[in-house]
Amino acid sequence: MSRNEWQEEVVTRLRGVKYPGFSRDIISFGLVQDMALEGTELKLKLKITTPDPAVPEKIGKEIRDAFKGYGPVKSVTIETEVAPPQATAATGAQGIEGVKKIVAVASGKGGVGKSTVAANLAVRLAQSGLKVGLCDCDLYGPSQALMLGCWEGVRVEEGTERLVPAECHGVKLMSMGMLLGDDSPAALRGPMVTRFTQQFLRQVAWGDLDVLVLDLPPGTGDIQLTIVQTVALDGALIVTTPQEVALVDARKAIAMFRKVNVRILGVVENMSYFIVPGTTQKHEIFGTGGGKKEAKRQEVPFLGEIPLDPEARECGDHGKPVVLERPNSVSGKVFSEFGNHLSKILFLSNSS
Ligand SMILES: Nc1ncnc2c1ncn2[C@@H]1O[C@H](COP(=O)(O)OP(=O)(O)OP(=O)(O)O)[C@@H](O)[C@H]1O
Ligand SMILES: [Mg+2]
Repeated sequence: MSRNEWQEEVVTRLRGVKYPGFSRDIISFGLVQDMALEGTELKLKLKITTPDPAVPEKIGKEIRDAFKGYGPVKSVTIETEVAPPQATAATGAQGIEGVKKIVAVASGKGGVGKSTVAANLAVRLAQSGLKVGLCDCDLYGPSQALMLGCWEGVRVEEGTERLVPAECHGVKLMSMGMLLGDDSPAALRGPMVTRFTQQFLRQVAWGDLDVLVLDLPPGTGDIQLTIVQTVALDGALIVTTPQEVALVDARKAIAMFRKVNVRILGVVENMSYFIVPGTTQKHEIFGTGGGKKEAKRQEVPFLGEIPLDPEARECGDHGKPVVLERPNSVSGKVFSEFGNHLSKILFLSNSS
């Protein structure tokens, strides 16, 4: 049997072995580093990043099962190298080929409007003629498929095994949640989430992009740190609402980005005020000036106040960001200006 023949058969069989807890196989996860057939003994080298001994054990058993009854392989010897995720992170965050600028939209607190800001920003930048990608990095509560009204399944590029983003409203969209298929994200544990996040961010076929917007999950924990240490960001946008409880968490987010030397592009205050329909009366429901004050205190730019606008919510729920669907609404106008402003910050200056 020629080297090509047996290798092909071995790879095909290994593609049937799933990484525990995932619907993807160990070949496309990049776990198999080397293989050799000595007589009827198949020698495999695997590299995993989790210290959990149950993972290689389970994978090993499944590999052996996959070769049961296959004549040319009578035994399988597996050598496993455990490289902790920190080792990967220590090599430093990297850019993504073909992508000019990468921006993360973050907050400490949940529900302040990151995904709404990210969706409107992406669509606005695309409207202005830029090539834009949007990556929903919220494994546990992905929103962008709903906000952009895009329910295409995940396609894998033949030959490269990379994931092909969907396209909607002129924006290329990829979501971590889409990839999990039927696997419950709740079943993922710490090291697996780290590994999954790193692999995911490296495996999307974005093509040429002017800007890639990352919609981060709320918080400043392991997932957020993994993201910012995997992808070299050009900057982070911090979304907050005006009240102290959100500002405290925004402060933590700023501290996290500073720790890993990511530039803070600025603070944007969402749900700043409400205009009573049919009037010009402004109601500052969550207080006033909190975002601006915090930006000043942190010595970062303040990028504006986005009103609380039922039209923004409705459009988001219907898969058409307000900046596209109702550009003349109160929030539509503000989002347009905000997108234009950010585009200038990204492309016209290197200083904040
Ligand atoms: N300016 C706004 N006016 C009206 N509704 C808004 C506005 N911003 C966000 N919303 C609504 O508030 C809800 C939460 O917003 P969104 O999902 O964008 O927050 P998030 O910070 O991404 O949340 P999570 O932390 O869960 O990811 C959504 O229903 C959204 O439509
Ligand atoms: Mg969100």
